Amino acid sequence: MDLKNLVFEKIKDIDVLSSVENLSGLLTYTADSKMGDISLPCFSLAKALRKSPALIAEDIASKCSDEIFEKVEAVNGYLNFYFNKVAVYKLVTEEMLDYKPSQIGKGKTVFLDFSSLNLAKYMHIGHLSTTVIGSVISNVYEFLGYNVVRLNYVGDYGTPFGKMICAIKRWGNVADIDTQGVDYIQDMYVKFNVECENDETLTKEAREWFVKIENKDPEAMDIYTRIIRVSIAEAKRLCDILGITFDSWIGEAFYNDKMQPVIDELDAKKLLVTSEGAKIVDLEKYNLGVCMIQKSDGASLYATRDLATAIDRYERYHFDLGLYVTSVQQKLHFERWFKVLELLGKDYAQNLKHISYGTYSLPTGKIGSRFGKQALVKDMLEQSIAKAKEIVTTRGTKVDNVDQLAEDIGIGAVKFGVLKTERVKDCVFDLEASLNFDGETSPYIQYTFARCNSIIAKAENMPVDGVEEDINNFDTFELVKHLNDFDRNTIESAKDYEPCYISRYLISLCGYFNKFYNNYRIIDGDKVNQYRLKLVEITKARLFDGLKLLGINAPIAM
Ligand code: ARG
Repeated sequence: MDLKNLVFEKIKDIDVLSSVENLSGLLTYTADSKMGDISLPCFSLAKALRKSPALIAEDIASKCSDEIFEKVEAVNGYLNFYFNKVAVYKLVTEEMLDYKPSQIGKGKTVFLDFSSLNLAKYMHIGHLSTTVIGSVISNVYEFLGYNVVRLNYVGDYGTPFGKMICAIKRWGNVADIDTQGVDYIQDMYVKFNVECENDETLTKEAREWFVKIENKDPEAMDIYTRIIRVSIAEAKRLCDILGITFDSWIGEAFYNDKMQPVIDELDAKKLLVTSEGAKIVDLEKYNLGVCMIQKSDGASLYATRDLATAIDRYERYHFDLGLYVTSVQQKLHFERWFKVLELLGKDYAQNLKHISYGTYSLPTGKIGSRFGKQALVKDMLEQSIAKAKEIVTTRGTKVDNVDQLAEDIGIGAVKFGVLKTERVKDCVFDLEASLNFDGETSPYIQYTFARCNSIIAKAENMPVDGVEEDINNFDTFELVKHLNDFDRNTIESAKDYEPCYISRYLISLCGYFNKFYNNYRIIDGDKVNQYRLKLVEITKARLFDGLKLLGINAPIAM
């Protein structure tokens, strides 16, 4: 229900307003419901109507008499509309009990390139943001009817693979790759980096192995494909635990032989310049420096590959929007090659967006990692689940499957840590605080959802009572309006590519609901108040939808 539109329909025919252009655009939601629900600032009308804003507001106020309004007040040039709470409750609940999200994306395709981790490395805390943020934005778009393509453009090519092969050949055993997995490949890689400090021949040897991969030498390819297979299996396992799926795992290597046409096209369009043996596109006049297309040794670059990839994706998906979710450090990289694509005359370049985010880290000294300073995702999840289990056990929660519940809570908390603040902000994951049932946390949302469930279960088959007047109060109406805002908020979240709109919405929904729950009896004795129960049902449904958008499970009981 569009409440601004509701007001617009009721006032648009009032004589003084009938000639006002863009009247609906002037209506705003009030920041504080104590000042009314919707407001019309009359300042911009003063000139055309040749009257002071205060007089205009008073004039209109005297002419607004519709049962949808409890009162209409003119205050200092503003016209404040207060809804009739019962009337709007009826409209909103009727619509929300049969809720269908706006399908604004129908017929449109959007791809998201996210996670896209470099293979043969552990998934560490630095990979969580792109993976979680990308999946939530995907969910939001899908919810709104878009056809969504989730792409994990894995880093499966480059000199590190030469180093790994070199190390495994020297100190390891090829068969161990399959049996010991990523741990083993990482150990070898770390050993290589330590040893090559004292032994220059190693770097040369690694480079030779990489050249062998490029030339498809059978031995190099055998080891390389094993490394890729094992790493993708591990990445998929972790994504599985996180409940995140992809439509494609086509990585950088696939585009290796698809870059020449791009280079040729750049050349034909006279965009390439040779500089110290390298080929570049000069972007100085856009204040973007240069975009390196080919190095002097003929090796292509990250940007060239991204150009080839985007062209291929357009051919495959005819996307209306393409989102690349990576850290803010890659901002310039994307700006540059988006510009080059535009210069190539590809109109869809304007529909590509770089979605960046700040750093996600742990307070120092917590969840120590095995390699370097980065905490591993699997360790974080393990610890969070263990801690969640401890909490539910202490609380004495009665559920059939405590382990499942601990997983729902523990994994949810790690994800929510990424989602609760604006994505560009840096944030620190504090395990204890994230698992607090009373804070602004995912367990708090899950707990409120479980509370709704238990009320509904208890109310089943109970005789109903209550009168409309029971919902005619300020706190209840705040809940009604917030429930009604679900769609608007989801659309805004998609528009700004901002998952935190959803997480914050859910936190405030829980706040409004719990206030309502604490102040008003839903079940009284052996009877259930039918008017209030409807709000419990709708709250439950929206919390469920919202958690699903965040990729967080909603346990029935907690
Ligand atoms: N693999 C890259 C990295 O870890 C991220 C790739 C992002 N996607 C892209 N199309 N460039 O830095």
